[in-house]
Amino acid sequence: MEITRNFDLTSLDKASKQNLFLEQYRLLLEGENDLIANMSNTAAFLKEFFDYFWVGFYLNKNEELVLGPFQGPTACTRIAFERGVCGACARTQKTIIVPDVDQFPGHISCNSASKSEIVVPVMKQNKLIAVLDIDEPHYDAFDSKDQVFLEEVVQLLTNTII
Ligand code: SME
Repeated sequence: MEITRNFDLTSLDKASKQNLFLEQYRLLLEGENDLIANMSNTAAFLKEFFDYFWVGFYLNKNEELVLGPFQGPTACTRIAFERGVCGACARTQKTIIVPDVDQFPGHISCNSASKSEIVVPVMKQNKLIAVLDIDEPHYDAFDSKDQVFLEEVVQLLTNTII
């Protein structure tokens, strides 16, 4: 089944939008098991649906995070596990919500427009393979419902890969 494109997203509240996204996202992933292909479509579909400022993946390459598929302005290419929100997520393997990036010690500013962010670990068989990072240009953009939603997105993504 093809994903539908003619949504009127403006009339939906956040929860309905997230549910609709998940329904369509399952169809988007169907039949594909390539990680980079699915990460690329994940970033594109999240950007298209929610108009996030920046959404993308950093891949775990030998305990260093390297820029992967993303949508939005150009970004930092390499992040050590010791640094930034992404590094903290990689170390703890837990989702991190940062309501104000200036209050997060060691936050890495790839773009001065970013004011808040959420970073979700992408795990497969108990190993960190990447993190999903989303940035918004206003404070306090993400809450626990976004966390539940994005952890579900990441779960559906990792279910597709062998
Ligand atoms: N702010 C992140 C770096 C990645 S960018 O936001 C795209 C961090 O502190 O890890």
